[in-house]
Amino acid sequence: MAARLIDGTAHARAVRQEVAERVARLAEGGTRPGLATILIGDDPASRVYVASKVRACEQAGMVSRSFTLADDVSREELYGLIDGLNADPDVHGILVQLPLPRHLDYKAVLNRLRPSKDVDGFHPLNAGRAFVADPRAIVPATPGGIMELIRREEIPTRGRHVVIVGRSLIVSKPLASLLMAPGPDASVTLVHRHTPDISIFTRLADILVVAVGKPGLITREMVKPGAVVFDVGVTRRDAPGSEKGYEVVGDVDFEEVAEVAAAITPVPGGVGPMTIAMLLHNTVTAAERALRGERQPR
Ligand SMILES: NC(=O)c1ccc[n+]([C@@H]2O[C@H](COP(=O)([O-])OP(=O)(O)OC[C@H]3O[C@@H](n4cnc5c(N)ncnc54)[C@H](OP(=O)(O)O)[C@@H]3O)[C@@H](O)[C@H]2O)c1
Repeated sequence: MAARLIDGTAHARAVRQEVAERVARLAEGGTRPGLATILIGDDPASRVYVASKVRACEQAGMVSRSFTLADDVSREELYGLIDGLNADPDVHGILVQLPLPRHLDYKAVLNRLRPSKDVDGFHPLNAGRAFVADPRAIVPATPGGIMELIRREEIPTRGRHVVIVGRSLIVSKPLASLLMAPGPDASVTLVHRHTPDISIFTRLADILVVAVGKPGLITREMVKPGAVVFDVGVTRRDAPGSEKGYEVVGDVDFEEVAEVAAAITPVPGGVGPMTIAMLLHNTVTAAERALRGERQPR
């Protein structure tokens, strides 16, 4: 392996330590940042994600409140819970775990959140603010985590060509906005399912970000020698004979691509740990802003 390994676990530990220090400072003044999580239904993966967010939140000294609602919860009941949390001064962040059951419109649910408490950064006001590089935006945790890795690893972005594979609202589109904003100043290309041959673009990337969820999508020939590669994909697949019986893999053929890349994130242990760390960062930031009494819409 020629590439430098970007150790997301170590960087996340540093972010979480900084968050814990900010939480301790707030606690001295009598404020404990609080995160409320809402889980609807009993999807095992969602349950695991929420549990790890709650654990991380408590480890950082924050208060967590978890709400688990039945799969067939009515819209009115969910909105009632959200409205109560919006109004509760001890709750600084609200997280609605996606995906939602079919009968609930996720856009309408996200709209119901008070933007200043939307620590996932999915409310249209936060998405719009991120798009126009407004510093009041709460940035979604995964793209925020990738920006933090870029900053901490001192990876130059100005004038560099970043190619992002995928066009999702939670990873790829906000990341494109953040990278092309004044400051990072990258040239960004976004490719997706309907791009006839993504390799034409990936081969031109100084920085390649892959957020699709298809193991083995990116092979060695698709990567420019010396590129920096961020593998966002997370797929759990059976691995008979392994200790757990399954393995978690990304979208990039790690062994091969690490031979040509300058730096690469592993899966697991790359972008994933940063996502949780940035959720904590967003929550403590929301609490600090609430304490400063910053005017926020609704
Ligand atoms: N590490 C983390 O913390 C973290 C956080 C979030 C997500 N993830 C993982 O990252 C992956 C992407 O997540 P997401 O939420 O962005 O998923 P998503 O909403 O399903 O988006 C995947 C994107 O990939 C595109 N795509 C599908 N097949 C493709 C192909 N063959 N070539 C090029 N593009 C293709 C899709 O196109 P269409 O738009 O046409 O469907 C879509 O835009 C998943 O594996 C997810 O588990 C990891």
